[in-house]
Amino acid sequence: MTVKEVERLQRYKDLLAERSSNAIGYPFALDFDFSELHTLFQYHINNVGDPYIESNYDVNSHSMEREVVEFFADLFRAPKHNRWGYVTSGGSEGNLYGLYVARELYPEAVIYYSAATHYSISKSIRLLNMPSCMIRIQPNGEMDYKDLEESIKRYSNRPAIVVANIGTTMTEAKDDVPTIRSVLQKAAVKSHYIHCDAALSGSYLAVLEEEPQFDFANGVDSIACSGHKFIGSPFPCGVVVIKDQYKERVSKPVSYIGSFDSTIAGSRNGHSPVFMWYAIKQQGREGLLRRALECLSLAEYTQRRLQEHGIAAWRNEKAITVVFPKPSASICRKWQLATNAGQAHLICMPGISQQRIDDFIEDLLKETSLIAREPTHSRVFVKPGDSIMITQL
Ligand SMILES: Cc1ncc(COP(=O)(O)O)c(C=O)c1O
Repeated sequence: MTVKEVERLQRYKDLLAERSSNAIGYPFALDFDFSELHTLFQYHINNVGDPYIESNYDVNSHSMEREVVEFFADLFRAPKHNRWGYVTSGGSEGNLYGLYVARELYPEAVIYYSAATHYSISKSIRLLNMPSCMIRIQPNGEMDYKDLEESIKRYSNRPAIVVANIGTTMTEAKDDVPTIRSVLQKAAVKSHYIHCDAALSGSYLAVLEEEPQFDFANGVDSIACSGHKFIGSPFPCGVVVIKDQYKERVSKPVSYIGSFDSTIAGSRNGHSPVFMWYAIKQQGREGLLRRALECLSLAEYTQRRLQEHGIAAWRNEKAITVVFPKPSASICRKWQLATNAGQAHLICMPGISQQRIDDFIEDLLKETSLIAREPTHSRVFVKPGDSIMITQL
């Protein structure tokens, strides 16, 4: 490398350090230390094929991948003898996979998803070329179940695939799976499938709650979760868990790899399952619970401090996302805040210190003009057909 290129690389590293120290708007854990795994970067680890079947190429981490899937399958109370999954490139791939499986089971189905749903769902629907119906949301971002009921009734002769958000991108609202199931029962649709997009909240709600409302024991068919969000990882990753009985709908034998092609991608990142495995083994369920409680307590503190200063901050139940009126563009840029429809949010992820929140609030208070006296959720209501652009990664 030339001297200029070495300097360019150094500047990039400095920029990363500087920008990471202000990140509070996007959901990435910051408290990880994977230095023990650095020597893994001298290997090409490729998890091509089905993680539950050993393939010709065995410089892989399939055995750890299976342990990661099993950990999440236990958290989500998937049936012991009817569970399958894999480590994905992130929550978006898990969403695509869940809907792909659902479409293979019910090609005639209509997909229902709320207006607050992450853009990966509407993209998956376009990719899968499925008919869909956007459902209104309540002011807090949760699905409007009355609208769901009316929409399902309109197409009650077709199977229903419902996407339940377990933590929406902007307000971390949770759709209620038992209510969705009772709507489906009332509408008397012949077949249905529930996919949970649990990208952010899945991994900590499942440790906080003895009996999570959104899991397999409550009748869901697939759950997608991000790994780099609450668990933490230097690169994006995630996990998807489905019922094993569904896999045969998508899985095809491939002699070249000596395995089954059961996943979206061919070559798959073999490092990410090891990183997720390491994080899970280091923290265990107890460690995850402790971090979840710390995040919740910081979110409570943030909301209280903002409110004390007259800023209309609010939060959904058990949410680590604090929503408040959108500040100036320069504050949003400096603190990397996600914004939508006049609202901004910050997310109290593991590794964000109280000092960082205090520094942010100090900055915010310099902008007296933004202070609103009315809770923002009383002013925001997204109707079907409204375009909501969520500036989310
Ligand atoms: C609710 C929700 N679903 C899905 C995703 C996509 O997850 P990923 O970025 O891991 O692909 C996000 C990302 O923020 C999200 O907030």
